[in-house]
Amino acid sequence: MNNLEQTLSIIKPDAVERNLQEEIINEFKKNGFLIIKQKKIHVSKIEAEQFYKVHQTKPFYNDLCTYLSSGPIVVMILEKENAVLDNRNLMGATNPSEAKEGTLRKKYGISIDKNSVHGSDSVENAKIEIDFFFKD
Ligand code: CDP
Ligand code: MG
Repeated sequence: MNNLEQTLSIIKPDAVERNLQEEIINEFKKNGFLIIKQKKIHVSKIEAEQFYKVHQTKPFYNDLCTYLSSGPIVVMILEKENAVLDNRNLMGATNPSEAKEGTLRKKYGISIDKNSVHGSDSVENAKIEIDFFFKD
């Protein structure tokens, strides 16, 4: 296989709260992703701050970390060829109102902060994010 990659996906609190995890996981499977590992967790604010450290200077950082730690999330390792970019394309634009038809954020996202899914943005960050949640 060429370019087999893994990426980290998170089903965020707004989607878990609406019981959308099965539906979203089916979308990943339908689009050729293998779910290598999956767990439902509830992160603390401090863990959310560590995970989103790259955004620590952004004005939305505090709200983002409060939000990610506000309820259960589902974290997954997804695998397929070109998984990182393909997942970003399947997710759609950060702001659901700008996301294309058929993308997860268009279908399920409520607002820019409650946009239902996270996906790693590079192979390098995918490794860091997978380690963050699935180290052992
Ligand atoms: O998630 P994505 O990589 O598409 O976007 P990001 O720029 O890495 O931002 C991380 C997350 O911060 C987004 O998914 C949004 O939930 C949130 N965000 C926000 O609440 N307000 C913004 N103006 C930008 C991002
Ligand atoms: Mg990002």
